[in-house]
Amino acid sequence: MRNFTYDASTRILFGKNRVFEVAPEIKKYGSKVLLAYGGGSIKNNSLYDTVCKLLNKAEIPFVELSGIQPNPRIESVREGVKLCRENDIDFILGIGGGSVIDCIKAIAAAVPYDGDAWDFFIRKAKIVNPLPVGSILTIAATGSEMNGNCVISNEETTEKRAAGDDSLRPKFSILDPSYTFTVNKWQSAAGAVDIMSHIFEQYFTLDPGTYIQDAMAEGILKTCIKYGPIAVNEPNNYEARANLMWASSLALNGLTGTGKMFGDWATHGIEHEVSAVYDLTHGAGLAILFPVWMEYVLDEKTAPKLAQYARNVWQVNDTDDIQAARQGIAATRKFFNELDMPATLANVKITGEKIDAMAEGACLFGPIGMFKKLGKDDVRNILVAALD
Ligand code: NZQ
Ligand code: ZN
Repeated sequence: MRNFTYDASTRILFGKNRVFEVAPEIKKYGSKVLLAYGGGSIKNNSLYDTVCKLLNKAEIPFVELSGIQPNPRIESVREGVKLCRENDIDFILGIGGGSVIDCIKAIAAAVPYDGDAWDFFIRKAKIVNPLPVGSILTIAATGSEMNGNCVISNEETTEKRAAGDDSLRPKFSILDPSYTFTVNKWQSAAGAVDIMSHIFEQYFTLDPGTYIQDAMAEGILKTCIKYGPIAVNEPNNYEARANLMWASSLALNGLTGTGKMFGDWATHGIEHEVSAVYDLTHGAGLAILFPVWMEYVLDEKTAPKLAQYARNVWQVNDTDDIQAARQGIAATRKFFNELDMPATLANVKITGEKIDAMAEGACLFGPIGMFKKLGKDDVRNILVAALD
């Protein structure tokens, strides 16, 4: 196990009715708030009204940024920066999923920065002294509620890129599973796939001696396998929603990646290209790509870890590593299909014509992946294999 520092500093307020603690949490960090949210789901389930009342009662002035889209756009970030500057905002509260939370982090980073917010995403600027942010999570998926990452899309350049810094970790996140009861089947399934994918990216490394990290990772995968289908079929099942919500945070707050080399992250890199061009739901793109990536990287060197996954998560008994790995991959694909996630790019009406550009984009900063390094040709091969 490698040396590591672990600092997941976000304060988590988990459970029913924790929203009533939002005002005192904000007051620890700021006095004037940007309240940011998406396309309106929070207005359908009374969360918006509750938060506005709580802020008014606590005499916390706020201005609003609404309409943040899934695969959040750089325009929303720029709009938020303008609002913060014009109104002397010193704290940002995001209510929603990864898209809203990512957007507020990008705004927080850009407010004290002189240049354009997109600079952080093309590695032109470093994040320094961002505004503090907090979140009220409404969908279990990305882990953005407990990490310092943000992913933003630029339609002008057809790019979707990530930036991050520990200073962007939310100061607090409120996780009330009952707010996720209204998440539809598609987004619930895509969320479960995304959580599993975050584990895959950190689990599939060549590091020896990380038994505890692997055991935690396998536990989170089993949690998604047990509760993902229940959340999809029984949306009001609190136990399922609660387990998935906590899995979302634990899967990407650094925990299972401790003591290892940086994770693989090739599949996420490729998926971000697909959703940059086709505005696809992130988890759906991962459901298509992950089994293909697993097959592509399977060789003598990677087989033991893929076989470990197959045996510990899917109870595969085969003693041959390559055979066991293949059975684990088949089980993964079957599970995603049972969640009604697409299995091929053709299923979501994506054809091969932009594959070269996507491969180019995925490798913009050089080869990707650590479990197995992938260049442009490899990415192209994976996308072609994912077509149908
Ligand atoms: O916009 P509203 O009306 O709120 O509707 C949203 C949106 O349409 C809806 N929704 C959210 N909560 C709901 C709800 N509908 C009903 N009831 C609720 N309680 O769900 C839709 C999707 O929301 P979104 O925030 O886009 O989903 P998710 O949390 O999956 O976020 C995806 C984004 O996060 C990025 C993805 O690339 C994508 O852009 N990621 C961020 C990461 C991070 N910061 O660490 C890591 C991930 O790998 C990922 O890349
Ligand atoms: Zn993801």
